[in-house]
Amino acid sequence: MMSIIFNEENKTFHLYNDTISYIMTVLPNGTMGQLYFGKRIRPRGEYAHLIEMQPRAMGSYVYEGIRTLSLEHMKCEYGTYGSTDYRFPAVEILQENGSRISEFCYTSHTITPGKPKLAGLPATYTEDDSEAETLTLVLTDRVSGVQLELLYTIFAHGGILARSARFSNIGNQTLHLLKAMSLCLDLPDCDYDFMHFSGAWSRERHVKVRHLESGIQSVGSMRGHSSHEHNPFVILKRPTADEFQGEVLGFSLIYSGNFLAQAEVDTHDTTRILMGIHPEWFDWKLVPGETFQTPEAVMVYTDRGINDMSQTFHELYRSRLARGYWRDRPRPILINNWEATYFDFTEEKLLTIAKTAKECGIELFVLDDGWFGQRRNDRAGLGDWKVNTDLLPDGITGIAEKIEALGMKFGLWFEPEMVNKDSDLYRAHPDWILSVPERNHSHGRYQHVLDFSRKEIVDCIYDMMADVLGTAKVSYVKWDMNRSITECWSHALSPDRQGEVFHRYILGVYDLYERLTSAFPEILFESCASGGARFDPGLLYYAPQCWTSDDTDAIERLKIQYGTSYCYPVSSMGAHVSVSPNHQVFRTTPLHTRANVACFGTFGYELDLSRLSEDELCQVKKQVAFMKEYRALLQFGTFYRLESPFGGNITAWMSVSDNADRAVVGWYRTLNAVNAPYSRLRLKGLDPDRLYKVRVDDRLIGEFYGDELMYAGLVTSDGSSGEILDGQKPSCDFDSRLFILEG
Ligand code: DGJ
Repeated sequence: MMSIIFNEENKTFHLYNDTISYIMTVLPNGTMGQLYFGKRIRPRGEYAHLIEMQPRAMGSYVYEGIRTLSLEHMKCEYGTYGSTDYRFPAVEILQENGSRISEFCYTSHTITPGKPKLAGLPATYTEDDSEAETLTLVLTDRVSGVQLELLYTIFAHGGILARSARFSNIGNQTLHLLKAMSLCLDLPDCDYDFMHFSGAWSRERHVKVRHLESGIQSVGSMRGHSSHEHNPFVILKRPTADEFQGEVLGFSLIYSGNFLAQAEVDTHDTTRILMGIHPEWFDWKLVPGETFQTPEAVMVYTDRGINDMSQTFHELYRSRLARGYWRDRPRPILINNWEATYFDFTEEKLLTIAKTAKECGIELFVLDDGWFGQRRNDRAGLGDWKVNTDLLPDGITGIAEKIEALGMKFGLWFEPEMVNKDSDLYRAHPDWILSVPERNHSHGRYQHVLDFSRKEIVDCIYDMMADVLGTAKVSYVKWDMNRSITECWSHALSPDRQGEVFHRYILGVYDLYERLTSAFPEILFESCASGGARFDPGLLYYAPQCWTSDDTDAIERLKIQYGTSYCYPVSSMGAHVSVSPNHQVFRTTPLHTRANVACFGTFGYELDLSRLSEDELCQVKKQVAFMKEYRALLQFGTFYRLESPFGGNITAWMSVSDNADRAVVGWYRTLNAVNAPYSRLRLKGLDPDRLYKVRVDDRLIGEFYGDELMYAGLVTSDGSSGEILDGQKPSCDFDSRLFILEG
């Protein structure tokens, strides 16, 4: 159970549940100070000793004669710059007289059961008020007339705290909000490793670790989307912590646009974490009576290692961020035509692939890019969401019916936010793209970004999409987004509001998602942005799964899926078996390894199945049958990372069912070894007293108790540790095995 206690006498708040405590107090100058965030400590009235007020030489002090009150040395709850605190601030407000100083003093607070919605923004939620409690701190800056509400939701279970900030202009000045972070957290020391998940197109979310040092370290995006390059998720872990023990803090921003995640270590070795909308180019005009709500950030604390932190995020994001019909349902096994045909398809070709897929047991056929307008390559057509009847003579309605007649569901690709100059939409509305008058229009993949900050544009795209989705039998939508934003300027906003466009754009994206998912609640939405450029919690609120990467090579995917799993659940990761040699890295890998990697995701195929040999088709049938039997466990079980592809030649992970009666272990070896050491893999999360039958494919390899498998380990040595015995399969590069445990 959780609780929020307010001590009236010393104006101290203590939020706690079984796992964590979060304590803050009103400082002598009326602003809020941060006292503690970590493992739960017992509630008691007095924590004044945690406010360290040691006088120091050469300080700047708030009041004359009091050498103990310097915000520079305080752990502040929501830091401001300019009045003795010299660290990067959480907030910056430009006032009419040019000053940017603010002093937010405690005014009042409310404690309410459950969790309020954040207007127009994705956020975690409760289904029942008993699941969480919310503290709203009301602070006021007297001079600018801004009321700041800091929202804190503590959940009943797990070390989770959700935070956001809301600014209301209750005065009479016209203000500009130049910085409005979702969270600020001052920690008393800096003995942490900073982990982030960074990369590029086709190598998203690789794990990066560095020790915190004096100064600032940050990741962020200024590309208009959360990006391939960095992810709005960072970890601070104690250097001695690992996957299974030690203190770990995770910080995740539920947002899909420009973001900043920053750790600043000051000269006294305290750490300030800031997370929120990237302040670069952010300038939100706040006129009297207006309110600005920041996105939500989620902090997770555990002292049980990184896996435990990940599992906390998985559970929260799977069940209290993702929503709708598909949230708890095992996901359909799909075939996507992109890597099978690219733009070069006919209806006949698509139906041939679909028929073979149906024979293999595949449930959903997805028609990717190229079905609309004059789209025969990437130079034309985006924006014209009307079927090309030269390609599909009976329209989307016709092909959807033909697929349904085969006994499969039908899915369709859109890229709603984009337009090619060679399109009817652009010809009719050249001022609908983000662009600056008289300046060059930079492009990405020959496409331009529609100004989703404008409601009439979002309405127009909604109408076109709803027309298709409302008339044809479409069960799945892949929503793509294939470029970063440039020349971010709206033809509809006044010059003093141009700093709002990046954020208004994302609000437009959320609005379209909200409208479509409400109008078509049973359609499964998968988000995508050239693979994983928008693999973020913001979109998980609308689309419970996301195309993890355009890189479909199984060996590259080990790193990508492993890195993604630090924050995001298996049920959110789109993962497909593609052709070999692979189209991104031209690597040849065995079919079983491609499936063994993809099955830890929302599984599908993306190749021309009609070109496979009989033997390969037979393997595909078996893989599909396996997935149907185990997908609930793989997608919704408790996921453990066991061995990291960033560390060596072996990768391993596993999913365990809720009552630990079943588990699937994925074991992958990048390069084959000769006369290799004997090897064992220590499993996790099993019932120590349960006897498990362990199989690889249909071969029973033994019966072992959970304690043996967890503490002594599962023997994984094979022929490459010596000689190949009769009946053993010779191993090869890029080999893998799935161990199936049933108890
Ligand atoms: C990028 C996506 O990530 C691919 O899967 C595919 O849909 C292409 N776009 C289509 O243009």
